[in-house]
Amino acid sequence: MPRKIQLSKTRPSQVRPVSVAAINRAPIHPGSLLSTADLSVDDLCSLLQLADVLEVEDPLRRDKRLLKRRISLLFYESSTRTRTSFELAAKALGADTSLVSAQSSSIEKGESLKDTGITLRSLGAECIILRSPFSGAPYLLAETTGLPILNAGDGMHEHPSQALLDLRTILNHLKSGPKVTEKTLAGVTVTICGDIFHSRVARSNALLLPQLGVRVILCGPPPLLPEAATRLVSGIEIERNFDRALAQSDVVMMLRIQAERLAGLSLDLEEYKTRYQANVERIASYAPKALIMHPGPIIRGLEITSEVADGPQSAIADQVRNGVAIRMALILRALTPTESANRKSGVKVGKRDS
Ligand code: MLT
Repeated sequence: MPRKIQLSKTRPSQVRPVSVAAINRAPIHPGSLLSTADLSVDDLCSLLQLADVLEVEDPLRRDKRLLKRRISLLFYESSTRTRTSFELAAKALGADTSLVSAQSSSIEKGESLKDTGITLRSLGAECIILRSPFSGAPYLLAETTGLPILNAGDGMHEHPSQALLDLRTILNHLKSGPKVTEKTLAGVTVTICGDIFHSRVARSNALLLPQLGVRVILCGPPPLLPEAATRLVSGIEIERNFDRALAQSDVVMMLRIQAERLAGLSLDLEEYKTRYQANVERIASYAPKALIMHPGPIIRGLEITSEVADGPQSAIADQVRNGVAIRMALILRALTPTESANRKSGVKVGKRDS
């Protein structure tokens, strides 16, 4: 009997998209990061270079940068990597952090996002890191609090800090030397394979990577990758045959099937594995040199086998490590105007030597 995933018949309320255009009226604090589409190539260079500086800085010096500044982590959804690395990053800069999660706060009693944000601001929060099941929620929080908001994943919309750490991972593996420009990753092909439709990681990467010249191929079955995905960014391609996509790829990003967002969709998992699983035979045959990435959580034996996830081509552990450096840079940028952050660290905007 083939294994199948089948979830609720109705689309759960948490995947209801919020109209960003409808709520995005008040000014957004310039230290916010809500979407990778908001970052210019110069912004990318500054952030990457700041991450490089902060990663190797003397911890005793680094933790004076944001000494006792207050950062709230507001997490309405589960998280391991993102939450821990944002927290470690804030602490490494000397900031005080407080975690508010849906299960143990007044959110459980029905408090709105707006009121929760205003409460955190009254308690002295200077920046809020938000993970929400609602697409667009960070825009609402940014508008209602006026604080810098870092989007730690909003519904099916975006996960910008993940795309930045993915970019740092790719650069560290493929390009040690050249400065980051619009052409830095020209000639590099990245395939993103799996549940593209529900993936905020796919969307943030698809918006970010082409800025540095990457050719992005999306791969997956029609229910998880509608044709409309090509309209996301110009030049983006769909290849339904994973083997053909692999044969063209320098980097392969595997995604898990987001069972919590499938909303009645039924998938034959055995067939899915046959067509889309990253396993040793397939990778050895079609992409023996490609870098294998995954944002986690990994469902071993489904979209990727343990041999590939733990194998020599895997950059998954590097992705997690890069999360702390990137998130330090984002938090510092959020709490200090970009120019002064760059001056302090000696960063010249628009240049990255590695
Ligand atoms: C996310 O938060 O979107 C994760 O990093 C990817 C996933 O949940 O599959």
